[in-house]
Amino acid sequence: MNSKKRVCVIGAGPSGITAAKNLLDEGMEIVVYDYGKEVGGNWVFSDSISHSSVFETTHIISSKALSQYEDFSMPKDYPDYPSHKQLAEYFQHYAKHFKLYEHIQFNTLVEKCELNSSNKWEVTTSCEGVKKKETFDALAVCNGHHWRPRYPEYSGSFTGKMMHSHDVKRFADFTDKRVLVVGGGNSACDVAVESSRVSQQTDISWRRGYWVIPKFFFGKPSDTVGGILRFLPSVIWRKSTSLMIKIWQGKNSSYGLPEPEADFGFHHPTVNSELFYFIRHGKIKPRADIDHYEGSKVVFKDGSKVEYDIIVACTGYYISHPFFDSKFIDYSKGEVPLYLRMLHPEIDNLYFIGLFQPLGCIWPGSELQSRIMARELAGKWKRPENIAELSHREVTKPDFNQIKTPRHTITVNYHAFRKRLLKELNRK
Ligand SMILES: Cc1cc2nc3c(=O)[nH]c(=O)nc-3n(C[C@H](O)[C@H](O)[C@H](O)COP(=O)(O)OP(=O)(O)OC[C@H]3O[C@@H](n4cnc5c(N)ncnc54)[C@H](O)[C@@H]3O)c2cc1C
Ligand SMILES: NC(=O)c1ccc[n+]([C@@H]2O[C@H](COP(=O)([O-])OP(=O)(O)OC[C@H]3O[C@@H](n4cnc5c(N)ncnc54)[C@H](OP(=O)(O)O)[C@@H]3O)[C@@H](O)[C@H]2O)c1
Repeated sequence: MNSKKRVCVIGAGPSGITAAKNLLDEGMEIVVYDYGKEVGGNWVFSDSISHSSVFETTHIISSKALSQYEDFSMPKDYPDYPSHKQLAEYFQHYAKHFKLYEHIQFNTLVEKCELNSSNKWEVTTSCEGVKKKETFDALAVCNGHHWRPRYPEYSGSFTGKMMHSHDVKRFADFTDKRVLVVGGGNSACDVAVESSRVSQQTDISWRRGYWVIPKFFFGKPSDTVGGILRFLPSVIWRKSTSLMIKIWQGKNSSYGLPEPEADFGFHHPTVNSELFYFIRHGKIKPRADIDHYEGSKVVFKDGSKVEYDIIVACTGYYISHPFFDSKFIDYSKGEVPLYLRMLHPEIDNLYFIGLFQPLGCIWPGSELQSRIMARELAGKWKRPENIAELSHREVTKPDFNQIKTPRHTITVNYHAFRKRLLKELNRK
């Protein structure tokens, strides 16, 4: 491949900016499109509905130590778990430091991406109603995977207010309301805790048992403690982590919640130090799975029936790439067969950056993926020839055997994944 290529980067979030930085490092010409107004993606809080899914009090759950780019540390005075505001500032400083702003076109939505007969990408954008088409040698897709809400479906109809965690911005709207939170992931537990501070009543409905990890073990952020144990074989690591959580805070059943059905790792971890605290203070009440709605009432599978003003579905997100023809690429359901979670088995000038769910932080992995992409485009790295077979193996041999629910199609082990990316980068 020639060294000077024109590359389109979709998104100026944590993944897009490191893609841009690494492409520039390898001498590429780049254009970054983002339909928002600032760098930072999910971390750019907005009072109105936007791409971002953070609310006024969101703090990160992956700790500062494991949530930094290799070549740009977080400020020393940041806490272990920075706020969304601090995160957005960190990403904006990164973009300023590496002179990325001059390459970013904000308020610009990528509407369509098509490969033409010369194997170039034709990218159609729209900015304030003006459509434009540009041609690129390669495409880096960094549009994030936590913005298109997935709602649960139950029979009957609910006459109160139904919303998704993506729409939650400020909790003043929950003041003195009867609130039901659905789900056991990080959004659900964060929303339940914040809601319980102001609401008349906050209940949380889980459809199964989940592991809830406190933010600190032995005075250290939990992911750094988990990292120390990472050299243990997977089965032992899972068993010892499960045991440590039980010793630390007791069984779920002591808080009225269902027990996890398998050892730690069978679902994406929920990191929260306040859920159990508020349950035992009577501020949050655990509920069973929902059976159906009856007007303003929700009937649970244990037969209980409760009236609510607001239901917050914290039931996750679809992976979505609306700028591709869905017959060409649609990862919203089922498997995502990409080698290193980034390389398409057939199309060699298409890269997905950040399309993975680590038990840990996303952007240090995006940074390494970006280096592989940039080096390949510069002719300094060659993809393996059996890429289709390797992509298939990503699906059949995942890092964790998780329950087959929609949120678990792109999970990786943070440390093992980084090791694989580094091994590829160092391959001659
Ligand atoms: C509440 C919440 C908390 C989280 N906490 C953590 C955490 O603690 N640690 C962690 O690692 N991850 C966390 N995540 C996951 C989150 O996805 C990552 O933190 C991170 O934002 C991923 O970066 P990204 O650049 O891949 O995607 P995003 O941050 O989603 O950025 C994507 C960018 O692409 C732009 N874009 C999308 N589509 C288009 C289009 N068609 N045209 C133009 N621009 C487009 C968007 O405007 C956005 O700027 C959290 C997610 C949520 C919802
Ligand atoms: N403070 C933070 O940093 C923070 C806050 C929020 C989110 N996040 C991150 O953002 C990402 C998304 O998290 P999320 O919590 O929004 O989504 P998520 O991880 O996909 O969790 C969705 C939850 O809803 C449940 N669910 C899905 N469909 C359901 C249904 N039909 N009925 C009942 N329950 C259902 C899931 O259960 P199953 O397990 O059965 O699928 C799961 O418990 C994750 O990476 C998360 O770590 C971070």
